[in-house]
Amino acid sequence: MKEKEFNTRTVHFQKKEKAHNMSKAKPIYQTSAFVFTDLDDMESFYRGEKEYLYSRYSNPNTDDLGQGIALLEEAEDGVATSSGMSAILTGILAVANAGDHIIATDDLYGGTYELFAKELPTFGIDVSFVSFNKVDNLKAAITDKTVLLYTESITNPLLRVENLKEIIALAKNHRLKTMIDNTFATPYLLQPLTLGATLVVHSATKYIGGHSDVSAGVLVGNRELIEKAKTKVLTLGCNLSPFEGWLACRGLKTLSLRMERQSQNAQRLADALKRHRGVERVYHPEFVSDKGNGAMVSVQLAENINIETFFRSLSWIKIAPTLAGVETTVSYPLRTSHRTIPVELQKELGIGEQLVRISVGIEDEKDIIATFIKAIEDSFIEL
Ligand SMILES: Cc1ncc(COP(=O)(O)O)c(C=O)c1O
Repeated sequence: MKEKEFNTRTVHFQKKEKAHNMSKAKPIYQTSAFVFTDLDDMESFYRGEKEYLYSRYSNPNTDDLGQGIALLEEAEDGVATSSGMSAILTGILAVANAGDHIIATDDLYGGTYELFAKELPTFGIDVSFVSFNKVDNLKAAITDKTVLLYTESITNPLLRVENLKEIIALAKNHRLKTMIDNTFATPYLLQPLTLGATLVVHSATKYIGGHSDVSAGVLVGNRELIEKAKTKVLTLGCNLSPFEGWLACRGLKTLSLRMERQSQNAQRLADALKRHRGVERVYHPEFVSDKGNGAMVSVQLAENINIETFFRSLSWIKIAPTLAGVETTVSYPLRTSHRTIPVELQKELGIGEQLVRISVGIEDEKDIIATFIKAIEDSFIEL
């Protein structure tokens, strides 16, 4: 499959089914364990002759997801996990040990910030947060204990496009590894490993699954590091359930179609909102890929827009603390995804009362734009 084009790989990443009546759709291996005919047969798993023993170790449906994303990200191997958070954790533990130091960008998803600021130190791993768009700050933060630079290819929620080439080159100069959260871009738009990144992580809960019905994560990279991460996944119990793996794989098949349509809709919405007097600033990535710029749009509403009224006026557009489904949704980063990051950092980054994050869906562009414009029009107040 490696030699096929991206869209073909996206639909045909699963191995051809040789057993189980040649089912066209992949069967769901909803089992906690696999059975053996005798002790020697069971031992054959440990000799590497059999693939499956116990679903916490590995399962055909979760393997499909890990290997599918590995194929699309051009990685040697991948592992699926129970969530984006556990993919990040196991990726970090595959490269960092107690006493090591990591540098992360400061405009990260709030959950990742929490993991790095509060949990990793309990493993003896120290994290510094610096603004990755100021490379001199980044260089200054490197110590002889630093092992990894961590960032998001398109950041949450302000949609800054990371200068991956520069960050990866800097890391290589200092013999550091790089781990990139590619959730917002997806491999449809960007493949950080092809630029030299060490590990790529996804919240598959988002565009990979695409239908807001699954929580999952994926980590991809070279065989050696993914082997290490797999050991962490099984020991820490961060494994994905077979059904969730199956659902995410089903979603993955339409990644290209969804991203193409959603990115187009997002561009049109961003352009329309830029022209509106109720909008102070529109955040929408530029120059991500010749296939598009992703489907996220964040907006800083003007001071004279009542935020409560705005959220109440969105009609069929749902308010949801997530993103990337086929339906357009809005979230409020200050009170959800970035609620727990320090208040000074919220202010410094520009995550304030008037910031709204929009995940643009596959609906008709005209309806999406009209509904947002009407919600803004309905929310003006006298100052
Ligand atoms: C960029 C990014 N990375 C990681 C995560 C964590 O993913 P999950 O919720 O699947 O654990 C999120 C969740 O919103 C996210 O936005």
